Amino acid sequence: MANTVDPHILIIYGASGDLAQRKLIPAVFDLYRGGYLPDNFALLGASRTDFTDEAFRQKVVFENEFFDDKQKESDKLEAFSKLLFYQDLKAYDGAEDAKKLKARLDDLSEQFSTGHNYIFYLSTPPKLYSTIPKALEAVGLNKPEDGWSRLVVEKPFGYDEQSAKDLNEELQSVFRENDIYRIDHYLGKETVQNLLVTRFANGFFEPLWNRNYIQSVQITAAETVGVGSRGGYYDESGALRDMIQNHLLQVLAHVAMEPPIRADAYSIRGEKMKLFQSLREIKGEDVAKQVVRAQYTAGETKDGEVVSYRDAEDVPDDSNTETYVAMKFFIDNWRWAGVPFFIRTGKCLPLKVTEVVITFKNPPQALFANQDRYAMECDNQLIMRIQPDEGMAMEFGMKVPGEGFRVKNVDMDFFYRDLTTKDVPESYSRLLLDCMKGDPTLYARGDSVEQAWAFVDPILDAWKKNEAPLAFYEAGTWGPEEAEKLWDGIPHANWRNPQESLTEEKHYTKL
Ligand code: BG6
Repeated sequence: MANTVDPHILIIYGASGDLAQRKLIPAVFDLYRGGYLPDNFALLGASRTDFTDEAFRQKVVFENEFFDDKQKESDKLEAFSKLLFYQDLKAYDGAEDAKKLKARLDDLSEQFSTGHNYIFYLSTPPKLYSTIPKALEAVGLNKPEDGWSRLVVEKPFGYDEQSAKDLNEELQSVFRENDIYRIDHYLGKETVQNLLVTRFANGFFEPLWNRNYIQSVQITAAETVGVGSRGGYYDESGALRDMIQNHLLQVLAHVAMEPPIRADAYSIRGEKMKLFQSLREIKGEDVAKQVVRAQYTAGETKDGEVVSYRDAEDVPDDSNTETYVAMKFFIDNWRWAGVPFFIRTGKCLPLKVTEVVITFKNPPQALFANQDRYAMECDNQLIMRIQPDEGMAMEFGMKVPGEGFRVKNVDMDFFYRDLTTKDVPESYSRLLLDCMKGDPTLYARGDSVEQAWAFVDPILDAWKKNEAPLAFYEAGTWGPEEAEKLWDGIPHANWRNPQESLTEEKHYTKL
């Protein structure tokens, strides 16, 4: 992996679309403002809409409503815009288009002295993920003789294991695996990367990080928003595909994988693959016992009144698509044998929050158990807040001053905002920069994407056959009661319902 960024051209397919405006252009601009882009750089937007270079610059730079105030007020806007160009395409896979694109890239390469180094970013509907690379291959843009060529692919990467395999095969027939960057924006989050640092840069966690000391692990990714105007996409996807197969299994991998031998792409992605291979399959009648799927009904969230999912735009009235999933599962390896893992995610929940909670086992003897009403109301938990209010808290019991041995839960905390005054980089900036450097560590490898699908496929199958019921929950609540039952048989444990601030909650305190 190189640590510098070679001169290159970034080509964004689907440049007139939502993702490009909302995330990609602001991220590239941040890299530009921060001085991370090479001196020789250009960006070419490509899509079917007709734009001149000037109109494109106007739309995605000067009139981009997704730029934050600092970006909008930056004195670098004008200079940045001059690096942006646009190429309209009739059809993404047409031979004529490919030739036109190649000629345009040759011109720009000369004009900006970028050599023939290209990043092709596919921000298009997934059905184009295999046709665009073929068109690039036809004009040799996948393997330029005197340069490099990388491909960035947005989610969804496949719809199930088979389609992910097919897509991998098609892409790998055009690009080398190491040049294929499957983006998962959760991996660009500082706090997700920090899970690795927490575990592997500190000596005292490792001895505890296993079945001997950990009672359970839970991951919650809650959102207040409903499906909004994304009903068309979402109804075909559902929460399991949209959040768990990719983002949350990646978070899980960071929490549960074995220590890699080095902090490089090969070692880290190899350990993640092993972890995915160790996930115990949930299938047949176990799906109903271990996985709760649910859909929101009308209610009120922090954002206001919400109509039921079935009444949302572009959602059929009889849709059985899940907007919430809670699941319990196991990892069959030495470290985690017997430890239950829980994941839940949902739309229209009370808060926007993602966190990982490690609950440690109680001491072997409950010495202070019968003291009085305060006693043993504590749990030893490590809460790793991915977003917002990024940080970490360790909860444990301390003696309440005064008579007897009253135990009260207290916490020690750390907040990212205390560590740096710099703005934490946006996921997309970090990930794009890594791709520019040729470092795929924070991108998903082809085989592990397939393996993650292999874990969720049997669940999707059971749902398709209606082998597990669909539950309902009112928008603005923490989800259906059925999710609580997943914890049956596990003493002193349940979902931890987070509060707005990481340490606001003193949920075990009975004072
Ligand atoms: C996207 C999903 O990948 O992640 C969305 O398609 C979801 O449905 C989003 O809202 C959540 O991302 P974040 O970074 O806001 O937690």
